[in-house]
Amino acid sequence: MSDGQHTGHGTEGAKASRGIDPSWADRYVEPDIYADIDIEGAAPARPARAASAAPASSRPASGDTAALDETRVLPAEAAPESLVDEEAAPEPSSADVVPAAAPAPNTARSQRAARNTRRRRLILAGVVLLVLAALLALLIPQFFRAPEPNGWTNHTQQPSVAPEGAAPGEQQDAGANSDAGAEAPVDDGTQASAPGQPLTLDQTSPDSLTVLVNKLHPLEPSTYEPSDLVDLSTLGVSASNGHPMRSEAATALAEMFAAARAAGYELDMTSGYRPYATQEELYNGFVRSLGQEGADLTSARPGYSEHQTGLVADISEIGGTCVLDTCFGDTGAGAWLAEHSWEYGFILRYPNGQTEVTGYEYEPWHFRYIGREAATSYRNNGATSFESFLGSTPAPDYAS
Ligand code: DAL
Ligand code: ZN
Repeated sequence: MSDGQHTGHGTEGAKASRGIDPSWADRYVEPDIYADIDIEGAAPARPARAASAAPASSRPASGDTAALDETRVLPAEAAPESLVDEEAAPEPSSADVVPAAAPAPNTARSQRAARNTRRRRLILAGVVLLVLAALLALLIPQFFRAPEPNGWTNHTQQPSVAPEGAAPGEQQDAGANSDAGAEAPVDDGTQASAPGQPLTLDQTSPDSLTVLVNKLHPLEPSTYEPSDLVDLSTLGVSASNGHPMRSEAATALAEMFAAARAAGYELDMTSGYRPYATQEELYNGFVRSLGQEGADLTSARPGYSEHQTGLVADISEIGGTCVLDTCFGDTGAGAWLAEHSWEYGFILRYPNGQTEVTGYEYEPWHFRYIGREAATSYRNNGATSFESFLGSTPAPDYAS
């Protein structure tokens, strides 16, 4: 290329004097001493588009290094830093054609800078991903961790007797608890049917399986009648007096009698639901024979009998000799019931030696249904009376 191209370009000073279109030259930065060294061998020529667009006459001939040098050397003030980034630079017009073979040191440098920027971004992204992964590793187990079975910890009522610690095989399926209304949580240390939930026992509603009925807690109303009484004969249960029981209790009794039969004991449900009027007749009969003080130790006054709940069974052995007698507790059948009744939701309601608490003498035949869950709790806590199990006061005498 001739020097003629370096002249005659107006008043652009040094740039014009070097034969560079001012508008193109402004996009260059001053080359440094390494400008001609393609360190990574990656410095391309000026954009191919520009090169290819250049007319052959304007391209430097191969080997014309002097011309190349001339076209690349620019004053420092002609290249603001903001224009180093090629992506930000405007496309050169046809008038801005640059010799195709001219190395582009600034382009190489900007590409290296871009690669460095990409590397830094990749490293930063990697660090961020590592931090996120660490956080997820810490947090994910928290989401999937099973809740602690701590539902037993906030109870307001504690059993008076320490748990006996039932064998694992003795844990029963607690089944449904139909309690409602006032709640009296019990901490029994067992697995309930609803882990994490306290066992709540309704002591006051007459329909509650765990209603407390004793000399200080009459049924309310006193003439209460259950609405779900069933004839035990429909369940294949012997009931010599023909008394019905509440449905859930009757079903549990049938299961218990079947188990007793398997153990060698044929049982009879000798007395079940007794309405207010029936209890009144019975109590008055005891008063006539034993006097009121004697009667009050063995028979409840009307409105104060658990039999009126429909949840009680007086049990005897068919053909046995200890029907409704304290000697029943010494029989095989009586002993079997005392040992296994809780498995079916029943408790021995008037144990030996608890008269000052229950108000009644020992009745080894009187079994009260409270539901499997509560009975399991009762058993595992080693409760000695329903009153102590519920945390209620002893009820040796009537209030009036
Ligand atoms: N024998 C019990 C106490 C009752 O009469 O309910
Ligand atoms: Zn009874």
